[in-house]
Amino acid sequence: MAKPRLHPDVAEVLLTERRIHRRIATLAREIAKCYSDKEVTIITVLNGSMVFLGELLHRLPMPTRLDSIVARSYGARTTSSGRVRTRCQWQLSLKDKHVLLVDDILDTGQTLKMIRDRLRRECPASLRTCVLLNKPTRREVDLQPDFVGFNIPDKFVVGYGLDFAERYRNLPCIAVLKPEIYRA
Ligand code: IMP
Ligand code: MG
Repeated sequence: MAKPRLHPDVAEVLLTERRIHRRIATLAREIAKCYSDKEVTIITVLNGSMVFLGELLHRLPMPTRLDSIVARSYGARTTSSGRVRTRCQWQLSLKDKHVLLVDDILDTGQTLKMIRDRLRRECPASLRTCVLLNKPTRREVDLQPDFVGFNIPDKFVVGYGLDFAERYRNLPCIAVLKPEIYRA
């Protein structure tokens, strides 16, 4: 089969689609083992997590409910503004439910910590976090994710749902862009 052509703005592919899908299949088994047949209420952080969640969700065998929250802290930059803004909060009742918070990437941890603290106030039976990517060296808050797809180095990545200034979410792999694209 012909090798898929690399997007001209990509400097380096960190994770191929094949590798991501294989890891998500394993991750789904780890999550299934943790909850066995208990119902799980998934709260996913949009927009970045939608591709990851889509691949993960259909591999989970237990009963699930799904809801979301929209968060934004980056805008057209590669570093967090430190101010996490959210909108379109979840609607489902979370009291006494097993809640799994799903996001694309854990960077400083500000976003997930803020959402996790809010979810906690709803008195769920349990609250766990799952991220596709983790940049452990960048953490600014005390948050250890329960499920992690990949630990990656401190590089700004795009693709597989992750964006730079809302672009590149549709790349099938996780990649680093050429420096001039980030500077533009
Ligand atoms: P944190 O609050 O610093 O942990 O950042 C979390 C959010 O910032 C993630 O949900 C992403 O939307 C975004 N983000 C962090 N690092 C990256 C990256 O390398 N590429 C794209 N988005 C990122
Ligand atoms: Mg995000």
